[in-house]
Amino acid sequence: MPPEPHKGVSYITSTLTAPKTPAETQLRPLSFSDFSGQPKTIERLQVMVGAAKRRGDALNHILLSGPPGLGKTTLAFILGNELGKAVRVTSGPVIEKAGDLAGLLTNLEEGDILFIDEIHRIPKTVEEYLYSAMEDFRLDIMIDQGPNARSVRLSIPKFTLVGATTRSGLLTAPLRSRFTLQTRLDYYDVETLCGIVRRSCKLLKAEIDEAGEREVATRARGTPRVANNLIYFIRDYAQERAGGRITRKVASDALALLEIDAAGLDEMDKRVLRALAENYQGGPVGMSTIAVAVGEEAETLEEVHEPFLIQEGYLQRTPQGRILTPRGYAAVGLKPSGSQNSLF
Ligand SMILES: Nc1ncnc2c1ncn2[C@@H]1O[C@H](COP(=O)(O)OP(=O)(O)OP(=O)(O)O)[C@@H](O)[C@H]1O
Ligand SMILES: [Mg+2]
Repeated sequence: MPPEPHKGVSYITSTLTAPKTPAETQLRPLSFSDFSGQPKTIERLQVMVGAAKRRGDALNHILLSGPPGLGKTTLAFILGNELGKAVRVTSGPVIEKAGDLAGLLTNLEEGDILFIDEIHRIPKTVEEYLYSAMEDFRLDIMIDQGPNARSVRLSIPKFTLVGATTRSGLLTAPLRSRFTLQTRLDYYDVETLCGIVRRSCKLLKAEIDEAGEREVATRARGTPRVANNLIYFIRDYAQERAGGRITRKVASDALALLEIDAAGLDEMDKRVLRALAENYQGGPVGMSTIAVAVGEEAETLEEVHEPFLIQEGYLQRTPQGRILTPRGYAAVGLKPSGSQNSLF
């Protein structure tokens, strides 16, 4: 039985929105040398870490952005490991008031990393306190109210803020500008994912051949988390139905059972494409309308599903709304019905 759904959130088989499990930490790379892909981001981070260590200084603040499952949290922990510093983890919506922030910051030690996930969801009132904390390593907070109100200045250790966001566009300019490095993670290519699949299978002691690796990698939506989630299922499938070894055929049979198609699109991706084709003649249509049609929150669709669908050319984003491309029609086995959008 899945847990009670939150308001408006439906549980649907998506390899991306599946709850994160302890298994996720099992496969998480712990050092730069263990982490493959994202060469530009890695080089930038290595330069900063090297310099900070040589100077015995704290690392400057870093903003990591990009779609879910590409390695933002992983990188924050790698930074801590490489620097030999603690990483404290919190997330934007959890920090409700300035006092919460003060509690977090005053418990840090010099050079520690404060990792704020979903930093775009930090309340505006708290965000302003973050400015002086990031710049001057101090917090001026008001205590008491009315005639007794007074401001207290807390000085905090020189720390590093690592922010992660799936929606860097939602960050305010003043907050964004306080990050010395802003770096974006991209979807992984198939070669890199093959390497990640190989590494994960080794850690899980699952036997896989090269064609099997490639099969998983091409169907992982450019996303290591998806690749790992698929491997967990395929490993079970291989064990229960195919004598344990993962070949191309075993991987492909297991993925067919999960209804993941050859391009890695999952059920929700396809629902979106199908809704556009069948209900809205290919668009243009707004994301909130699509969200209602498919029974998912617009925000989730925008963060999780849409970036990949756009990058792979299934969808286009226009000022009037989303448009289904010929490739998008093909993915759900339909043909453009002619008269509608003039783009194609
Ligand atoms: N470059 C990589 N090499 C190997 N494994 C990786 C890599 N990047 C991510 N992973 C794996 O993918 C999983 C998901 O990564 P991570 O939790 O860092 O994603 P995220 O970007 O923080 O996602 P979210 O936005 O959902 O928080 C990790 O547990 C890790 O095992
Ligand atoms: Mg994360």
